[in-house]
Amino acid sequence: MKKVCIVGASGKLGQYMVQHALNRGYEVVGVCREKSVGKLDGFKGRIAVIPGATNNREVIKKAVEGCDGVLTVLVPWGIHQYSSGTAQAVLDYAPPGARIIFSCGWHITRDGQDVYSRSFKLLIKVATWIGRVLRAVEIDDQVEACRRIFASNTPWTVVRGSGLEEGESQGLPLWSRHVGDPVLASNVTRRVDFALFMVAAMENDELIHEAPAIVGCQSRSALGIKAGS
Ligand SMILES: NC(=O)c1ccc[n+]([C@@H]2O[C@H](COP(=O)([O-])OP(=O)(O)OC[C@H]3O[C@@H](n4cnc5c(N)ncnc54)[C@H](OP(=O)(O)O)[C@@H]3O)[C@@H](O)[C@H]2O)c1
Repeated sequence: MKKVCIVGASGKLGQYMVQHALNRGYEVVGVCREKSVGKLDGFKGRIAVIPGATNNREVIKKAVEGCDGVLTVLVPWGIHQYSSGTAQAVLDYAPPGARIIFSCGWHITRDGQDVYSRSFKLLIKVATWIGRVLRAVEIDDQVEACRRIFASNTPWTVVRGSGLEEGESQGLPLWSRHVGDPVLASNVTRRVDFALFMVAAMENDELIHEAPAIVGCQSRSALGIKAGS
């Protein structure tokens, strides 16, 4: 039986990933903040939970032991290098050869070839500035986390999510190497399917060393429907 660690298991994305991993018969270890352990009560007896901050190196070292895959929700909360600390601990301690898969948004670019709309660029600029002023979110640190992942030789994948919505699964999202590809234009994915893509990537070697930008498979752009038609 394959064993996976889900770092950030108590969040919305994390809980969906836990369910998909269990559906595939994986043994699951979840990491979440101590105060959030109760959010995983629905999985009691079916997963192991290791409480602690996801950027705590000792917590990650223990959690990823013996795992075939590590799925990480890369969030930039606070101003304490939460994303880069989490990513570095996973890169350092995931067993050699384990698939490591990270989540982030479209704003992360691997090779600078992504094409963003002016409104998207403005949104990111404003969010980065407000996050910094309020000392609540450190988007620059998520960029730094991804820079370290891209430079790593581990078998990583960075899944770049579009805007997210709740709702029933529509199936595995479509992906493109670059934002700006018309297939992504709808900029919407069901959160449950973002999680599905993360878990399915475990078994998809074509995604190793890729940063797929994803979009819902039933979205207008994925179906090839032009906006307004
Ligand atoms: N939301 C979007 O529209 C969007 C779009 C594109 C990509 N993404 C990417 O999707 C991933 C998760 O997105 P999501 O919206 O679905 O969120 P989510 O799953 O609810 O994840 C939030 C995570 O952040 C943790 N968290 C919340 N407040 C925290 C704090 N103050 N300190 C430390 N950890 C804290 C949560 O843990 P607790 O359970 O302990 O609170 C949870 O693990 C991220 O990688 C994000 O970059 C999101």
